[in-house]
Amino acid sequence: MARVFVTRQLPGSALDRLAESHQVEVWPERLPPSHNELISKAGGADALITMLSDRIDAQLINASPNLKVVANYAVGYDNIDLDSAAAHNVAVANTPDVLTEATADLAWALLMAAARKLPAALENAHTDWQTWEPRGFLGADVHNKTLLIIGGGRIGTAMARRAQGFDMPVITVGRDHSQLSQALAQADFISLHAPLTPETKHLINTETLEHVRDGAILINTARGGLVDQRALAAALNEGRLAAAALDVTDPEPLPASDPLWQAPNLLIAPHIGSATESTRARMADMTVDNVLAGLAGEPLPNAVQAR
Ligand code: GLV
Ligand code: GLV
Repeated sequence: MARVFVTRQLPGSALDRLAESHQVEVWPERLPPSHNELISKAGGADALITMLSDRIDAQLINASPNLKVVANYAVGYDNIDLDSAAAHNVAVANTPDVLTEATADLAWALLMAAARKLPAALENAHTDWQTWEPRGFLGADVHNKTLLIIGGGRIGTAMARRAQGFDMPVITVGRDHSQLSQALAQADFISLHAPLTPETKHLINTETLEHVRDGAILINTARGGLVDQRALAAALNEGRLAAAALDVTDPEPLPASDPLWQAPNLLIAPHIGSATESTRARMADMTVDNVLAGLAGEPLPNAVQAR
């Protein structure tokens, strides 16, 4: 019986399957364990199921002599130091594919919500609906507008498919960023779907935002670190971006004192891209399959390696 520490309670019953053959401890709190608490739990564990909010760094890996598997309950794994894991023969897995469509759905919902000022309009119906307003809540067209997708992976591709139904020309910029400025200059909507790596950190910054069309709308459902948030706040304050809709920020949660909260035409969701009943249940199944394989000494079905 191996010992598995799970850093949060998960939806569904996947962990029952793990508990049939292993000793499973689940962190019971709403807030995640602190880094020190995590190190202490990992120190006695053979496997971890971790969230994107858990930092799995060299310090933790060095202090966890029995650790064999880290199964991240997310497709992104920028929270894990893959080099340290590899150096200590700790196998790492993520949850690709199962959350692609749900995340693209959320990105689309944010695009629509930002374009049509939906949160403000919904709020208005409750609080200040006096008459039909000829000039009220005038948003941006979505149909026929150009969508730039940054990150040509699974989720970006799923987003592009949604745009087809709205007759939107789509431009995709993948790992080669040499055409980014030119692409930004053509886009009415910009949606981020790239992983956070040293190459993509602050890809949206003061310099790149200079190329953006007046009135463009930015959507980020990938990682907060892709965007220099000071530059974003400036672009919103100056009206160069008509709106931004973020499911991710840096850090998360965004502190109440962060000036980004004061920027106009900004929607922020609390990182819910994969948050559907069936997606989160499938992610849980996947992490359990990865842990079971790793503890059995088999290759992980969803192993990830340093790029
Ligand atoms: C969520 O952000 C994920 O990476 O799954
Ligand atoms: C990213 O990992 C994706 O699935 O697009």
